[in-house]
Amino acid sequence: MREPVMDNNATSSPPPQSLLERLKDYGQEDAFALWDELSPEERELLVKDIESIDLPRIDRITRCSFRSQGLPAAAIEPVPESSVSTDGKLGVLLLSGGQGTRLGSSDPKGCFNIGLPSGKSLFQLQAERILCLQRLASQSVNEGSTSFKPINWYIMTSPFTDEPTRKFFESHKYFGLEPNQVTFFQQGTIPCVSKDGRFIMETPYRVAKSPDGNGGVYSALKYSSLLEDMSMRGIKFLDCYGVDNALVRVADPTFLGYFIDKGVSAAAKVVRKAYPQEKVGVFVRRGKDGPLSVVEYSELDPSLASAINQQTGRLRFCWSNVCLHMFTLDFLNQVANGLEKDSIYHLAEKKIPSVHGQTVGYKLEQFIFDAFPYAPSTALFEVLREEEFAPVKNANGSNFDTPDSARLLVLRLHARWVVAAGGFLTHSVPLYATGVEVSPLCSYAGENLEATCRGRTFHAPCEISY
Ligand code: UD1
Repeated sequence: MREPVMDNNATSSPPPQSLLERLKDYGQEDAFALWDELSPEERELLVKDIESIDLPRIDRITRCSFRSQGLPAAAIEPVPESSVSTDGKLGVLLLSGGQGTRLGSSDPKGCFNIGLPSGKSLFQLQAERILCLQRLASQSVNEGSTSFKPINWYIMTSPFTDEPTRKFFESHKYFGLEPNQVTFFQQGTIPCVSKDGRFIMETPYRVAKSPDGNGGVYSALKYSSLLEDMSMRGIKFLDCYGVDNALVRVADPTFLGYFIDKGVSAAAKVVRKAYPQEKVGVFVRRGKDGPLSVVEYSELDPSLASAINQQTGRLRFCWSNVCLHMFTLDFLNQVANGLEKDSIYHLAEKKIPSVHGQTVGYKLEQFIFDAFPYAPSTALFEVLREEEFAPVKNANGSNFDTPDSARLLVLRLHARWVVAAGGFLTHSVPLYATGVEVSPLCSYAGENLEATCRGRTFHAPCEISY
C-alpha cells in the first residue's frame, strides 16, 4: 500500500466531479479509488487516461461480450471435405504483426531469427518473398503481358511493438523494398476488466489495457483511413496473414488466382489438423448450412476437438486455420463497420499485472476470422502443411511449434526443391535433422532453381543464394 501524498492541497482536492459522475454511470468509479494517495502529477495522468477511454463503447463491449459468454454454445457443424478445393491459380498479399510472449521474447515476433543458416528474421523472409514475386512479375511485364506495380505491404503493430518494428525495418533498409511500399499502422488497445466487468488498474493512475486482438485490424484500418489509401492505390484484394509462420507464402499468386476464380468475398488457406490438441482454430459451419466461421482452439470443446468422422476415420473438425486470409476490399469496407456494431469480443481469462498484484481478469479481443460469418460468399483452399505451415509459437525446448521445428520444416522443404532441380546434398548430421535453405530471392516456391542447382553438390546445412 502506498503512503498518502503529503501535499495538503492535493489530498483535499476531490476527483473532477463530472468525470466521476461519468464513471459512476458505467459502474467504473473504482478507477478513482486510490485518488487520495496520488500526487498531483499522477492525478493528472489518471484523468487523462480515463478521458482517453470511450466509456460508452467499452461498456457496450463488456456487456455484450459477458452476455454472449453466458449463452449455450451454438451448434457447430463440420465443413465437408468435398467443399474444400485443392486446385487453384496464383495469388496476392497483405499482413499484420504482434507480441511473442509464448516465444519468451520481448521483441516483435517478426524480428525473430529461427536459426536458419542465413540467420534471417521472419520479417526478412517475408520481405524477400515479396521481392521475389516482384521480380517474377516484372519479368512477365518485360515479356509484354501486364503492367507491373510494387506490392504494397501494410504492417499492423500494437503500441508494444510499433517502435521496435519500425526501427528494425529502418536498420535493415527495408530488406531491399522501397520504404514507400511499406505502411505501418497501429491496432488499438482495450481496458482489461475483472470478472464483474470493472476496469483493472495497472497502477493507481493507469487502467490496465491490452491490444484488442488481431481482429482489431478492422477498426484500425477504418480509423487510420487505410482502406481509402488502398483503394487509391488500386488494391482490390487483401491477403492478411500472421507473422509467425516461417513458410508463409506471402502474396501467393496461386491463392489469388483461386480467390478471383471463385469470385468470393473471403477465403482462407487451411491445412489438415495434425492432432486433436493442436493449437489451431478450426473452420466450422454455424448450424446446418450456416455461415462459415472459425472456432478458436481455446474455445473448442475438447470432446469435439477429438471427435472422429466415422466415414473417413479422420478428425471431424479437421480444417485448420493457418491465419492466412484473403478478402476483397469491398467486403473489408463493410465488415469494418459491422463487427464494431456487434460489440462481441472474445474473453481471455488471464493473470493481469495490477496495483493489487496479479489479478485474474479478462482481456477482450476480436479475432481476424470473426469477419467470416459476415461474408456473402466464402471459400477454403487446402494447402500442404509441409509446404506452407511452419508455426513459430513456443520457445525451443517445448514439444511443438518451436523455432527449431520451424527451421527443420524450412530446411527439409528446400532440400526437396534442390534435389528436384537436379542438385545433390552431402551432410555430416543425419539428413532428417538438417537440409538446405534456399534464399527467397532465388525462388518463391521451388521454381527456377535448375540453373543454380543442376549437377551441383551442397553440404547441408547451408544457404543457397545468388
Ligand atoms: C492463430 C489463430 C489460430 C490459428 C493459428 C495458426 C487467431 C486469433 N488465431 O493462433 O486460429 O490456427 O494462429 O498458427 O488468428 N496478433 C496481432 N494483434 C493481437 C494479437 C495477435 O496482430 O492483438 C497477430 C500475431 O502477431 C500473429 C497473429 O496475430 O501474427 C496470430 O496471433 P496469435 O495470438 O499468435 O495466435 P495463435 O494463438 O497462434
